[in-house]
Formats: sequence, structure tokens, C-alpha cells
Amino acid sequence: MIVVAIDGPSGVGKSTVGKALAASLGVPYLDTGAMYRAIGLLARRNGIPLPIADPDQVGELSEAAEVRVAGTGGDVRTFLDGEDVSEEIRQPEVSLYASAVAAIPRVRRRLAARQRELALSGGGVLEGRDIGTKVIPEATSKFFLTARPEIRARRRFDELVRKGTPQDLDSVRTEMEARDEADSTRTDSPLACDETYQVVDTSDLKPEEVADRLRAWIVSRQAVDLQRPGV
Ligand code: DC
Repeated sequence: MIVVAIDGPSGVGKSTVGKALAASLGVPYLDTGAMYRAIGLLARRNGIPLPIADPDQVGELSEAAEVRVAGTGGDVRTFLDGEDVSEEIRQPEVSLYASAVAAIPRVRRRLAARQRELALSGGGVLEGRDIGTKVIPEATSKFFLTARPEIRARRRFDELVRKGTPQDLDSVRTEMEARDEADSTRTDSPLACDETYQVVDTSDLKPEEVADRLRAWIVSRQAVDLQRPGV
């Protein structure tokens, strides 16, 4: 079974690369950030202000909610209690909520358990912040993607323009830095890289080049497994 962990901050290309890699390996792709975003959206819809003063209130909401990420290849949808929230969770305000709820241990416990279960049931490419450190430390291959800050901000900026919700570049960069700081300094499962990861700087590479590199690394480590059908 192949389980690939891709971690790193925002704007390094995890989703694009993760989807391409999963398709080429023939395994499911799981965007774990989408799950935190769905819970962030839930907190926002419940009128909970930021910063979150009562983590247990959000913990309870998250335990009562059903979050599902389903689909294949380019069309992966996120459902919150049966409602398709795929577009709404990408709004910049929801990004801040996602980062805030992701610091709550009760929320993390619930989502990480679900992510682990999904990975162990059929393998997959999982991307997030703590996949290789916490969710599935025994992953077959672990990659930590990085990119220069100006490149990451530009990618996020372009993505927002494509989605029809443009923001100015400076505020994209400021928001991104605030979120990365929060994700890297929280007590529970912060974004962190260790010696078990392959680090790839994606600044000057196209997503397909990154996916090819990752695939080559996995194949070189798993040559025998990949030749066996159904593995
Ligand atoms: O990857 P993303 O930007 O969609 O993630 C949204 C937020 O969720 C991000 O600020 C950090 C958090 N997150 C996390 O804490 N752990 C994960 N495995 C994935 C995302």
C-alpha cells in the first residue's frame, strides 16, 4: 500500500502536486486542509468571533459535524453535513478561521483520526501540515514542499484572481504570513519538518515537474511494490 505525505506552508503547490501525483500513482488524494476549512466555516456560520475564546464550543461543533471530502482527480468536493461547500471554504475569511480551529486539540483529534482511517483503508496521497509528523508518521514517503515567500504570495494571488475573488498582493502576503506563523507556532501538531522528509523547493519548478520528481523518488523506493497490481 502506498501512503504519501505532503506537508508544507500555504502556496507551495501541495494541492496541485498532490492531485497530479495521486492520479499518476492510481491512489486517492486527500486534501486535509479542506477538512479544517469546513470546520472553520462552521465556526464562522455559528457567529463565533476570532480569536476563538471558547475552544470547547468549536470542539463540540466539530464533533457533531460530518465533514466529507470526496471525488477524484481534478474534481474533489468538500461536504459539510451534506452541503457542498467546496467554493465557500476557499474564501480568505474562511482561511483565517481554518487556521484558528486547527489550533484546537479537540478538532485536530477528530479530523486526524478520520484522515488516518482513510489513508490506511486504501492508501493515498495526503497533504496538509502534520501528515508525516502526526497523522501517519509511517507513510511510505514524506515530502516537505517549500517556496520563496514572494512566489507563494503570487501563486495565492493568481488563484484568487482565477476564482473571481481578487485581493491585493500585499494583503495576500500579510494574511499568508500570519497564517503560517500561527500554523508553525501552535502547541498541537505545528507545521514542522524533520529528517524523515524529502525537502523540495518548488519556487522555480512547474507543478508537473514537482510531481514527476516526487513520483521518481517513490518509484525508486518502492520499485517492487509498484509493479505488483493492486498495491
Ligand atoms: O492547506 P490549507 O491552506 O487549505 O489549510 C487550511 C488551514 O488548515 C491551514 O491554515 C492550516 C490548517 N491545517 C492544519 O492545521 N493541518 C492540516 N493537516 C491541514 C491544514
